Amino acid sequence: MIIFDIMKKNKSPRSPVGVFDSGIGGLTVAGSLFEILPNENIIYFGDTARLPYGTKSKETVTKYSIEITKFLLNKNVKMIVVACNTASSVALHHLRKISDVPVIGVIKPGSKAALAVTDNYKIGVIGTLGTIQSFAYKTQIHKLEKDVEVFSKACSLFVQLAEDGWTENKIAELVAKEYLSEFIKLKIDTLILGCTHYPILKKTISKVLGKKIRLIDSGEETAKEVKRLLEQFHLLNPQKAKGKHRFFVTDFQKKFKEISERFLGQPIHDVKKVKLN
Ligand code: DGL
Repeated sequence: MIIFDIMKKNKSPRSPVGVFDSGIGGLTVAGSLFEILPNENIIYFGDTARLPYGTKSKETVTKYSIEITKFLLNKNVKMIVVACNTASSVALHHLRKISDVPVIGVIKPGSKAALAVTDNYKIGVIGTLGTIQSFAYKTQIHKLEKDVEVFSKACSLFVQLAEDGWTENKIAELVAKEYLSEFIKLKIDTLILGCTHYPILKKTISKVLGKKIRLIDSGEETAKEVKRLLEQFHLLNPQKAKGKHRFFVTDFQKKFKEISERFLGQPIHDVKKVKLN
């Protein structure tokens, strides 16, 4: 309801959409947005100096997320997409309080998509420690549907595997088996990939779990939701030209370019390092 009230406020459809993440992983979400909304100008913010968020306290993640939200609001964005699952899990309601534009997280779109496809109402959720310990997915799913069993597991090593590009080798398969075998025993039919990095490991996860277990990419579902909301409130950018994509980071890692291209599937230009107050 709050979102709809805010949407009615006059923001220019030509304003950019702001997206943020703890670092580079959110580029998987940005990639979905670029694909589904080619004419939108998008500002991506990656807090590369302070990642990971997944192992930090909710107070710290909230503080960082508020700082980034203020930065994006200063760039006159018409909407903010919290690509980071950890930040979406613990900080979303705080961000909505300080924002005069809608703030969209990844938890609800991912949960809705899982509920739409499950047949046996046994859903698995994987994410960072912060996301899993917050119970954000479980709570959201149960808000939408009471009679569902939700099984959650933190799969911390997947983040490093994705960043190192070890996505389809023996190590990745071994780690995936160790983390995910119990989901097969629990007979889930749907698994939510509740972390920005996990879609990079989709092939290996699917190989370990088998084709019958459906994988839900929360980022992809969020991109669809963003499009739906922009359409509904006549905020789609009317320009015919391709949208401009700008990237802001708080630190340049040595492997930034290589990792970011793997996550986004295309080279990135126009990256600026900034300091947050
Ligand atoms: N972006 C984070 C998430 O989706 C994963 C990486 C991190 O822990 O910062 O939860």
